[in-house]
Amino acid sequence: MSVAAVLTAAGSGSRLGHSLPKALVPLGGQSLVAHAARNLLAARAAGDDRVRVLVVTAPAFHVDAIARELADLTDQVALLVVAGGATRQASVAAGLAALVADPRGAEADVVLVHDAARPLAPASLVARVIDAVRDGHPAVVPGVPVTDTIKRVAPHRGVTVEPVLETVPRTVLRAIQTPQGFTTELLLRAHAHGAEDAHDEALSASDDAGLVERLGEPVWVVAGDARAAKITTLRDLQVADLPTESDE
Ligand code: CTP
Ligand code: MG
Repeated sequence: MSVAAVLTAAGSGSRLGHSLPKALVPLGGQSLVAHAARNLLAARAAGDDRVRVLVVTAPAFHVDAIARELADLTDQVALLVVAGGATRQASVAAGLAALVADPRGAEADVVLVHDAARPLAPASLVARVIDAVRDGHPAVVPGVPVTDTIKRVAPHRGVTVEPVLETVPRTVLRAIQTPQGFTTELLLRAHAHGAEDAHDEALSASDDAGLVERLGEPVWVVAGDARAAKITTLRDLQVADLPTESDE
């Protein structure tokens, strides 16, 4: 019984517009993927339950660069770096295949899926997700209340002024982050069920809990953390670089 993690880092970061793939972009002296991996490994859930196996998905031409970036973690965790796929879903599927093919990974009964694009997700959040899975929730996602007013619109190609259909009640909305946590059995089943759509950007799931929902299985939300914000644009990177209070 142990926890494994799949850390997705295979994206190109086209919206960030950096010359390096997003996961290798530096933030405060460390790459985004190194920050994310360190925070995952720092998490201590109940009973010293923690990540023992880490699978990182890398852009195909940067597998060695990502492995070098994380080389100093190999005394703390069994590390596997694999090439990702064309979509995030395909990358996670590739990571899971590598995980179950490895004898150390095959022992994991809980799997976290985390994005290197959320480098500052604190260890306390990681531990909260592991604890909720261990407490009997087979699919757990962190979520934060939505602060903007959300309206549903009817977009039309080429039309820049969109009609509003409705305002969605905000109190029942959560913006979902990673790491997301699953029993290994459920996550493998969800990815197998969604495999046909994995390589199509329009059809693939943008998060793993979405695949569990497609199976008709319940998903549970625990409190997220503002520090787990996703870095998509240069502005997000600049915000992440602002001084903040250190993690508890
Ligand atoms: N990801 C991945 N494999 C892909 C696409 C994305 O592993 N084929 C990962 C990214 O590395 C990132 C996470 O999924 O950690 C969320 O993706 P996103 O923020 O969209 O990152 P990118 O796809 O790199 O950025 P962009 O969409 O701007 O190109
Ligand atoms: Mg993307």
